[in-house]
Amino acid sequence: MFILELSSTKELNPLIVDFFRKKHTKEIVWKKELASSDVQSELVSKTVDSKLVIKYKIEIMYQRRFLRKLMNYLDDLGAPVGEAIYEAFCRLSSGVEEKFYHVFYPIFEIDKLESLSELNTVILKENVNIISQGTTGLITWQASQALAEWALKTSIEKKTILELGSGTGMAGLVVASSTSCGRYIFTDCHSDVLSLLTENVELNCDKPLEKVEPEKDLLFSGSIENCKVEIRKLDWDTSGVDDCEEIGSVDLIFASDVVYDKDLFEPLTKTIKLFLQNGTTAAIIAFTQRDESTVNSFREHLESMDLNIKWLETPKPNYLSWQILPIIHIIEVTL
Ligand SMILES: C[S@@+](CC[C@H](N)C(=O)[O-])C[C@H]1O[C@@H](n2cnc3c(N)ncnc32)[C@H](O)[C@@H]1O
Repeated sequence: MFILELSSTKELNPLIVDFFRKKHTKEIVWKKELASSDVQSELVSKTVDSKLVIKYKIEIMYQRRFLRKLMNYLDDLGAPVGEAIYEAFCRLSSGVEEKFYHVFYPIFEIDKLESLSELNTVILKENVNIISQGTTGLITWQASQALAEWALKTSIEKKTILELGSGTGMAGLVVASSTSCGRYIFTDCHSDVLSLLTENVELNCDKPLEKVEPEKDLLFSGSIENCKVEIRKLDWDTSGVDDCEEIGSVDLIFASDVVYDKDLFEPLTKTIKLFLQNGTTAAIIAFTQRDESTVNSFREHLESMDLNIKWLETPKPNYLSWQILPIIHIIEVTL
């Protein structure tokens, strides 16, 4: 978990948060206080020039867009653009675009922002492309934020959570660092996803992860705050009772944005049912409704496997921030 410093000029804090959340620059509401060159320097030092951004690079194209929009705003305001902005813009102009960048996920209650001087944040390395290296797991999908928000608002004290198809690890890192969950097991099947997941979990861990040798599917273990974290290879195509035995008691299954490909429904639901039959209480699945027929066929598939579905209320973004459209559903699946 990392700490983001806010500004003593309170008007700047929504802008600092917008920058770290990579809000679309068209939607950013700039503040007239920025006419002062001292306030401009403060914004630059807390965003593009901050120690965290220099160390964990945010997409350069986004940083440039942020500064360009700021300069346009100052131009419209008739205010001079200060040295700090020009220097940062020139530095970024010579930056080389890369395939992987860091993405920040600050966690705080939006209506308490005024009273805060710093924010906790998860930092992840992600690919810039939605699909790359033959997988969808190298970026964070919107539904994982809704799932993490749901967990932040639900009592999961001391629970053991098994996540299926963890991808970059965003949901689990928020849950492990900001709830009193006892054990969080990240899983995926794709080797590049597992490598990135390991890098991301390690980045946000208090201590380096331990590589675990004897068990073949347990790759790493460690801790975040008071939560034990594990990274395991778990492929829904080959999952079986031996996985339940190796993993041990699991209270809840989490999965986000795994309802997009009808070919995955069979192995995914088989894996969920396996754990439910071995003592897991429920699976909480968050997914974006990209088209209605996929959602209907997933529902029909669960029903055909004799599984019960309860539609839960999707929380509104508060601790985290995500696009609310297309709609994200959260369902609880039980035996
Ligand atoms: C769209 S991504 C979602 C990732 C993450 N849950 C999120 O919401 O950001 C789907 C994930 O499911 C994983 N996946 C796909 N098929 C799988 C399988 N057969 N077994 C395990 N994981 C699988 C992919 O590797 C990928 O990480």
